[in-house]
Amino acid sequence: MYIAVENYGCVAFMIYETTNSYYILIINNNILDGIMNFIKTLNGEITKTPPIWIMRQAGRYMQDYRNVRSTEKNFIEFCLNPEKASNVTCQPIQKFGMDAAIIFSDILLILHMLNHQVIFVKNEGPKLHKLNLGEPLLLPKWDTYLANLQPVSEAIKLTRVRLDKSENTKDTPIIGFSGSPWTLFTYLIEGGSSKDFPNARKFLWADHANSKQIFDILTHAIIHFLELQIKAGVNAIMLFDSWAGSIPARFRNEFVYQPTKTITQTLRQKYPRIPIICLPKSIGEGIVEFVDIVQPNCVAVDHLTDIEFVHKSIPKEVVIQGNIDPLCLVTGGDVLKKEVDYLLNLITDRPYIFNLGHGIVPETPEQNVAEIISYIREKNIGLSIS
Ligand code: CP3
Repeated sequence: MYIAVENYGCVAFMIYETTNSYYILIINNNILDGIMNFIKTLNGEITKTPPIWIMRQAGRYMQDYRNVRSTEKNFIEFCLNPEKASNVTCQPIQKFGMDAAIIFSDILLILHMLNHQVIFVKNEGPKLHKLNLGEPLLLPKWDTYLANLQPVSEAIKLTRVRLDKSENTKDTPIIGFSGSPWTLFTYLIEGGSSKDFPNARKFLWADHANSKQIFDILTHAIIHFLELQIKAGVNAIMLFDSWAGSIPARFRNEFVYQPTKTITQTLRQKYPRIPIICLPKSIGEGIVEFVDIVQPNCVAVDHLTDIEFVHKSIPKEVVIQGNIDPLCLVTGGDVLKKEVDYLLNLITDRPYIFNLGHGIVPETPEQNVAEIISYIREKNIGLSIS
């Protein structure tokens, strides 16, 4: 029986128990690299077929997901149930053969564990106990914060075991993730989703000193959470800055680039072999400066950003991921194939990961996902063999 996995970046230990003895399996990540197309690409190799995964791939467009989701009313409880979270994490790998699994959880868990309880109201999205102008974000007890997030660690370990049970999904890399400080700040200050983020923007201008303190706490909370996921066995991490395009440009350096750089640098120092993907969504021309300052291994490009501009403007060693419009995947057929051809013919001389520009939407036919994956894998166009 499998008991635990501990990952220290360059080396991982797996502990098994049989009827009368324990086994410790030492896994050198150099060996793992040889069989992981996704990790190879993140480490700078141009592979014959690009690795494929889809943001929010474990989600409502899948009947299998809806079946498990319907067994739990409360979404946060669902995320904190290791058995159910690992079950749905594996579904898209088992069904579509994605090249990476992203652990099922949510960026808002961090705020929930910082005593800003999150609830999901059907058809309205998340609602949380918000922070008003003049209020400080209380510094948590980090031990308690991490103890409350242990179910995510359990879910990652269970996912590893589940994936490794079958030859078809064995060694599939697992992506851990977090929201970025600015995106989490918007949810904290708005108390939910927003179109224009009036309260969050006002907060930055009106209470700069308090904003700085809040960003420091969020940055720490994110580092702790990502470290917990790395120790549990994830092979790469992704930072979602979903609302990076909505911060006033004058604040980009202070509240997007610098805190994100602190996160990437801190993690890279401790876990140099864990690649980092960043999605600074809709940040426009700022993506060039973002890449220059933050230095992610890979930048995820959203569908509102011109991928030709990004490809021309950032160094060749930075991997690009993206950027099909999620609604193009809903349309499917030849329209979608044409877009895929465009991307694969464009990005031939740098490592590239196939993905959407944002999360897959619930109305996406599962058939379109299956079709486009086999189309890409049969084509092998554009990319040269490493
Ligand atoms: O498969 C995966 O990608 C892993 C799981 C995942 C979820 N959320 C599950 C989820 C990931 C990576 C996220 C990230 C996330 N969550 C982001 C960043 C990415 C992005 O889309 O910009 C954001 C902004 C959130 C916050 C959030 N979670 C919102 C605004 C909502 C409600 C809107 C919606 O899509 O329903 C959620 C809920 C949520 N998180 C669902 C899922 C599958 C749907 C809820 C359900 O199944 O009942």
